This record gives sequence, C-alpha cells and structure tokens, in this order.
Amino acid sequence: MIAIGSDHAAYEFKEAIKAYLDEKGIEYKDFGCFSNERTDYPLYGEKVAKAVASGECDKGLLFCGTGVGMSLAANKVKGIRAVVCSDCYTAAMSRRHNDANILALGARVVGLDLAKMIIDTWLNTEFEGGRHADRVAMICDIENRNCTNA
Ligand code: RB5
Repeated sequence: MIAIGSDHAAYEFKEAIKAYLDEKGIEYKDFGCFSNERTDYPLYGEKVAKAVASGECDKGLLFCGTGVGMSLAANKVKGIRAVVCSDCYTAAMSRRHNDANILALGARVVGLDLAKMIIDTWLNTEFEGGRHADRVAMICDIENRNCTNA
C-alpha cells in the first residue's frame, strides 16, 4: 500500500498520478489534499510520513510545487528517508543505496510523463543492503542521538 499526498500546488498532479497507479493496479491511500484550494504542505507531509513510519503503508509519494517542502516536512518524522527527485538515476540510487521510503516530486518541476517514469523506477528498485545498510544505520543513529520526538 502506497501513501500519497499533495498540497494545492500539486493537487491535479496527484489526481493524474492516482489515475496512473489505478491503471497499473497499484494500491494507494490518499491522505489529501482533496481540492486545489490553498492549503499547507506540512499537513500532508506529516500524515503520509506517519503512515509510512508506522507501517500502515509501505512507501509514500508526496507532491508539492517543488517537492522540497514535502521532503523537509516528511523527514522530520522518525524513520523517514524522503528524497526529492527529478531524474530516474537519483530515484533508483535513492532506493538502492539509501533505502528511501518516501519519494517527493515537484509538480512545477517535472512533467507528468517524466514523473511516471521516476515513480516506476523508484517503486521497482530494491535496496541493496550490505555496506549501504551500515550507512543507513548511521543515519538512524544520528536521528536517535539528535531527535527527541515522542
Ligand atoms: C506552494 O506555493 C509551494 O510553496 C509548495 O507547493 C512547495 O513547493 C513548497 O516546497
């Protein structure tokens, strides 16, 4: 199950990606927003991040104007490794080496066709583990030593 969310800037983009996921038979849960009325990206970044961190959803997709605000908000939740991508190479490597669990895309940055390719790449690339698992563990250690969130 994929958690999905956007702000107003990416609402139409999210709806188009949902249609694409429907076509591919990929299940998702939409955490909003639900119209293009102006809203605030941290609201949805946190909802999607919590769904992934808790294990309710396996991975998350977040969309805003640039993807930046969503990734910053999501990364404040313990256990989240959110990445902003605008190319397939970074998307693949963020899975292979960083075990990224949320992909953030900018609806004002990437076109819909490229976004679909990036999402396909990201969803279908596995974490390599090994030495990369040691490094991800080091990231978790930074989180544990520096973040006191409940
Ligand atoms: C909204 O105008 C815009 O700031 C937001 O979608 C996002 O790009 C923030 O990072």
